Amino acid sequence: MSMRIAIAGKGGTGKTTVAALLCRSLLNRGTKPLLAVDADPNSCLPDKLGVAREKTIGELREELRADPEKMPAGISKSEWIESLINQEISESTGFDMVVMGRQEGPDCYCFINNLLRQCLDKLGSQYEAVVIDNEAGLEHLSRRSNGTVEVLLVVCQPTLIGARTALRIVELSKSLNLDIGNSYLILNACDGELSDELVAEFEKSGLEIAARIPTDSEILDFELEDKSLTELSDDSVAALAGDDIIERIFKEVQ
Ligand SMILES: Nc1ncnc2c1ncn2[C@@H]1O[C@H](COP(=O)(O)OP(=O)(O)O)[C@@H](O)[C@H]1O
Ligand SMILES: [Mg+2]
Repeated sequence: MSMRIAIAGKGGTGKTTVAALLCRSLLNRGTKPLLAVDADPNSCLPDKLGVAREKTIGELREELRADPEKMPAGISKSEWIESLINQEISESTGFDMVVMGRQEGPDCYCFINNLLRQCLDKLGSQYEAVVIDNEAGLEHLSRRSNGTVEVLLVVCQPTLIGARTALRIVELSKSLNLDIGNSYLILNACDGELSDELVAEFEKSGLEIAARIPTDSEILDFELEDKSLTELSDDSVAALAGDDIIERIFKEVQ
C-alpha cells in the first residue's frame, strides 16, 4: 500500500523544509520507490531536494489545451496523458518528483483536469510513499479524484498566531471532507518551552503535537550553499526530528 503524507501550513512556516526532511528520512529508512509532489505553486521543493525542474503539470495542461489534437493514433487519451506525465517526472537518486505548478483553470477544462488527476492518482499508487508539499488552501488535495491521504501534517510556528492558523487549517480540511487517516501538528523552529496558554491554544485544534523541530543552523547553511536537505548530517537536530516523525507515522498508521 502506498503511504501518502500531505504537508499543510501557512507560507513561511517550514512546509517545504519538513517535506524535504521527511523525504530524507524515508530514503534513509529504505522506503522506496518514493515520490515527492510539489503542490505549492510558490514552492521550491525541487531546489530543497537538489532536483532539476521539469515541466509542471500546469504547463502540461496548458499545452494540452492549446493543441488537443496532438495525440498520436492508436492509444487512448489516458494512456497518452500518462506517458506525458511520466516524461515530466524528475528522477533523482532514490526518488522521483513531480511539480504541480499553476492551479487549475475554469471548469471548462475539466475534461483535461479529470484525466490529469486520474493519471496522477494512478501514478501515486505505484509508490511506496508519497510526500505532498501543499499550499495553505489544500486546493490540490480537495481536487484529487480520491481525496485520501494517510497522514496530514500541519506545520506551524510555536506562537499564538501559529496555533490559530493550525486550527483554521484543521477546520478547512474537515470542511473539504477529505479522507484523512491521522492528522498531527508539527511545531517548526521550536526552541523554547511552550507556555500553558500556548499549549491550550494548540489543543483547540484537536490535534496532538507530534514533533517540535528546532531551528537548525545546518538548514540555513545548506540553503546558502544550495545543497539538498537529503544530505543533512545524521546529527542535524532537524534531520533527527524528521526521523522521529517518520518512525511515529509508520508505527501508528498502516
Ligand atoms: N527548522 C528550521 N531551522 C532553520 N531554518 C528553517 C527551519 N525550518 C525552515 N527554515 C527556513 O525558513 C524558511 C522558510 O521555510 P520553508 O520550508 O520554505 O517554508 P514554507 O514552505 O512553509 O513556505 C527557509 O529559508 C528555510 O530554510
Ligand atoms: Mg514552501
